[in-house]
Amino acid sequence: MSILPIIIAPDPRLKNKSELVDKVTPELVKLMDDMLDTMYDAPGIGLAAPQVGFQKRIIVADVSTQDEKRDPYQMVNPEVIWSSTELFDYEEGCLSLPDQYADVSRPKRVKIKYLDRTGSSQTVDAEELLAVCLQHEIDHLEGVLFVDHITKLKRDLILRKLKKMKKLDKKAG
Ligand code: NI
Repeated sequence: MSILPIIIAPDPRLKNKSELVDKVTPELVKLMDDMLDTMYDAPGIGLAAPQVGFQKRIIVADVSTQDEKRDPYQMVNPEVIWSSTELFDYEEGCLSLPDQYADVSRPKRVKIKYLDRTGSSQTVDAEELLAVCLQHEIDHLEGVLFVDHITKLKRDLILRKLKKMKKLDKKAG
């Protein structure tokens, strides 16, 4: 188990398209376990492999609340195979855009196909927060951030703040 460093936007590595995984190897299972540890440690409800420097189609998520039992998902090659026309608005954040939030509108319900940690094909029907979270993470695999769903004005404001923050961090470090 290890905590991986999370890449902070703006960073070109967050804008790349990730590669399909052709086999779920023990190394990738270890990566998924490390990603969950990193996500819980942050803390966050989702994390995609490119956020920790791996351009592979892998995501993890857990939207359970603190007093509930943990309910982690580890997904390889996740793909939205159905989405509702009904939309759902949620104020999203991202571990790669610390302390930045914006309302994003996405399909309220989705069906997602993926490979689990044993390499078996699975589907999950997700709605509301889980649907938001999984769509947000799958976006990362396409190099898309939640700020790409909002107006350019708001996006530029957020990215400018993050750039400034990174500069200050560098000076402090
Ligand atoms: Ni994110």
